[in-house]
Amino acid sequence: MFRNDLLQNKRALITGGGTGLGKAMAQRFLELGAEIYICGRREDMLKTTAAELATSTGGRIHALPCDVRDLESVEALIHSVWKAGPLDILVNNAAGNFIARTEELSPRAFQSVIGIVLMGTLHATLACGRRWLAARHAATVLSISATYAPVGSAYVVPSAVSKAGVEALMRSLAVEWGDRGIRMNAIAPGPIPTQGAFSRVLPRPELEKLALDRNPQHRFGTLEELANLAAFLVSDHSGYINGEVIRMDGGEFLQGAGEFSTLGRMLSEKDWESLKPRKPAT
Ligand code: HXC
Ligand code: NAP
Repeated sequence: MFRNDLLQNKRALITGGGTGLGKAMAQRFLELGAEIYICGRREDMLKTTAAELATSTGGRIHALPCDVRDLESVEALIHSVWKAGPLDILVNNAAGNFIARTEELSPRAFQSVIGIVLMGTLHATLACGRRWLAARHAATVLSISATYAPVGSAYVVPSAVSKAGVEALMRSLAVEWGDRGIRMNAIAPGPIPTQGAFSRVLPRPELEKLALDRNPQHRFGTLEELANLAAFLVSDHSGYINGEVIRMDGGEFLQGAGEFSTLGRMLSEKDWESLKPRKPAT
């Protein structure tokens, strides 16, 4: 889809880049010429991913363990990355989530998800942003949100409040830092099969079927679709897109919002015929 030098000379950090969507973005950005840093809590998994992607793409990738909830760890990570030169791209992708009834959640359960998704994004964005502003270095931040961020969602409340905060952060800083060459955007994906997400939020076949049924395209998104959109948004070719949240869900969100969306599945050919105006008898 893109020229293979699209991200040449760009250096990017992808939080949670060892698995799922983060790994897919790391692979695509490497194929397009970027030098990549991935972080996460599990060092072994990160190293395995980095070795695999270095071999398959021939690109430069570094694996650095870091818990994004911990400000000091994030500062140390960014400090060590900057020793080799400034980053140009930050992708806030690390997340935690699970489905549960909100009234049964402990304070630690809230803290855990809010710590990763909202505070982790804040920690990484500010650690990079302060350095970019001080050096007048043009850069871009892409955060991975979820389609329920603007409206909330039952049963994933810690994630919903965190993703809403992430989108507010992206939109706010898009304006505050926009005059200094820093762009902030987000992608809100619909369901894309990954072990991390599906084991936690669609853990049973009937839940997966429900998700497919309510999607106009009756399919899940793919890693390639997500990675290509991300590559465009972090590239200079999207330079005038700033402060946007791009929904990528096959129309699922709009299907849920439309008053009459389900009629197509409920009404038969005969029903539709019977709804047509009767021709007056001649
Ligand atoms: C209720 C739960 C719970 C659950 C954990 N907790 N899972 N409460 N229901 N299913 C509670 C624990 O009891 C504990 O509280 C607190 O949360 C912290 O749990 P830990 O296991 O100690 O936390 P930790 O090891 O830090 O793990 C964090 C995690 C875990 C978020 C709970 O799931 C994780 O590591 N996730 C990372 C990857 C991930 O979630 N990926 C999916 C992203 S998908 P107490 O009080 O008992 O100590 C996504 C969008 C999906 O975000 C959208 C699809 C369309
Ligand atoms: P995933 O594979 O579980 O990815 C989450 C990643 O975040 C893991 O690599 C995990 O690595 C890392 N992580 C978790 N806690 C961390 C912490 N405290 N510090 C650093 N890294 C941490 O799930 P995914 O599906 O790829 O999700 C990626 C992003 O897409 C998330 O933002 C998610 O909300 C979003 N999203 C996914 C879907 C979907 O259907 N897949 C839909 C909408 C939005 P460690 O466990 O090693 O730390």
